Amino acid sequence: MLKNSLVNFTLLWLLLQVLVEVNCQMTPFKPSALNCHTATFIDNKLYILSGLTITSAKSYNTVKEFFYLDVSIPFNTRELSWQDLSNINMVPPHGLATSAKGGVNNNTLFVYGGGSFTNQAMELVYTFDPHHMIWNPPKITGINAIRKSSLTGVMGYNGKFYLWGGSTYENIILNDMLILDTISLNWGKGSLVNAPTPRIFYGATLLPNNKIIYIGGTNDDTTEFGHVNLNIIKGITLSLSEVYLYDMINDNWDAKITTGKIPSNRFGFSSVLGLDGQRVIIYGGAFINPGYLDTTLYVLDLTNYNWYIPKISGIIPKPRVFHQANVIGKYMVISFGIGYDRTVESDILLLDISNNEEYIWTIKFDPSVSKTSPPLSSSPSPSPSSPLPSSSQLSNSSTNNSNSNHMVGAIVGSLISVIFLLVGGFFIYKWIKNKQNQKIINENNNHNNEEKAMPIERDIHDYDQAMDNNEQEIIQMPRNTNESIIIPANDHHEQEIMQTPKNENTTNHEPIILASTEANNNNNYGQIISTSSNDRLSSQILKDEILQAVKQEIAQTLKNELLQVARDNNINIAKINAKQD
Ligand SMILES: *[C@@H]1O[C@H](CO)[C@@H](O)[C@H](O)[C@H]1NC(C)=O
Repeated sequence: MLKNSLVNFTLLWLLLQVLVEVNCQMTPFKPSALNCHTATFIDNKLYILSGLTITSAKSYNTVKEFFYLDVSIPFNTRELSWQDLSNINMVPPHGLATSAKGGVNNNTLFVYGGGSFTNQAMELVYTFDPHHMIWNPPKITGINAIRKSSLTGVMGYNGKFYLWGGSTYENIILNDMLILDTISLNWGKGSLVNAPTPRIFYGATLLPNNKIIYIGGTNDDTTEFGHVNLNIIKGITLSLSEVYLYDMINDNWDAKITTGKIPSNRFGFSSVLGLDGQRVIIYGGAFINPGYLDTTLYVLDLTNYNWYIPKISGIIPKPRVFHQANVIGKYMVISFGIGYDRTVESDILLLDISNNEEYIWTIKFDPSVSKTSPPLSSSPSPSPSSPLPSSSQLSNSSTNNSNSNHMVGAIVGSLISVIFLLVGGFFIYKWIKNKQNQKIINENNNHNNEEKAMPIERDIHDYDQAMDNNEQEIIQMPRNTNESIIIPANDHHEQEIMQTPKNENTTNHEPIILASTEANNNNNYGQIISTSSNDRLSSQILKDEILQAVKQEIAQTLKNELLQVARDNNINIAKINAKQD
């Protein structure tokens, strides 16, 4: 009798472990298909804020998401564990803003500008304090700064945020230099003498010599490009044969003529400084078809302003536009954007840039080398090369269960996973049969095949196909607004814009206006499913639904079984429920 209940108890315990695990994995945060978001790297976390989603080929919507990726631990880009902070996000849904790390303690997230696309009040600048998890609109003194969008701000080594170019609410493209001192919270202006011509969606990178390099972009916000191949179909795009340097110390501009394999004109790409500080790496963007297969990765040698195509290995990803890139450890970390199929490629791309002779596209992030620069703060760090403390933190956080359980779990785990698979398989079968949707099944099969092996030839093949299929899928660049009533500029930035009802010949270009309550955001997601012409997007969402349904059914079944066993053993049910939480 005693032996029997001991066996039962062990079984119950193991089932509980599985259930807890299922519950934990049941609601992973799945971000929207973002573009024109901001990505800021602070204290081993990559924070992603807001951005746009494509609702149809020519209209965009804003989202209110705020989440981060913990990069203190190794991860695989195929299984990203996003941590959702949307519930504490007080920044209205917006896109086309720019962000950087700055402030008194050099660990505050600053977000400037962007467009809410709605009548919703939005401050010019917001800050997020990651330690206290608080958003604030800071009070900033000095000149009456204006709101700009579609720009890339650069945080100087001095804590000043350099906000050059971009476009106003009225879609006037500028070349002025706004400077936000994030330490004294004061606005200033930089020189316009010899500044580049007005532009948006350019590349901007901070160099070690206190200069900022500005590359490419566009001065035409009616530009259109292919959804998948990102080839520019209509509109003007600026050349990369000349680059511009802004000297932060002396407040002056300089231009440099570039040589070598000059990338074709492009905008909406990302640019980062190489780890040796001697080169700028650019990736992606919407571009003029150069007449050859463009791997969209180029390097500008800063010693002679010579462009070259770097040697790369690994699986070459599709080009992306309106993404973001951060240097984290030895990687150029690319986040989201337009141009890839989310069922095939991760929202995050990793390019290992540690070896200038050969960059490597990879899906595995190794944080052990991410501490290339020792922290500048006064926080004690034993030695820069010592193993990361976070790995032990990780195991601590997951050791709610005693170690012995892991042993038992390992032995019986395989048995349970067989049951798990059988039950799961059954429910998948049941669910799919209910849906009677042969197309989805086919799509999933394709997806599985694709995941097994992705030789470079496949990519090129797909790329060509995309070019063929893509003729009707043309994307219009996001704009603040086409028709807007401008309330004369005053202190109330938040009331500067009011959007008029749609007007017959601009309906294609107008962003969809939606209220920004939580409930409506959920609806927005639903609308994407129904209005998107992209089958792969909807198939991804349906696939998620399948997974969700299966997980819920399995969890329910296990829960019922558990309760049954619990009753047999007279174990307090309340205790189990507490454990589940
Ligand atoms: C802030 O930290 C960065 C490194 O992340 C450093 O380059 C910069 O100089 C720091 N800024 C200030 C004002 O100390």
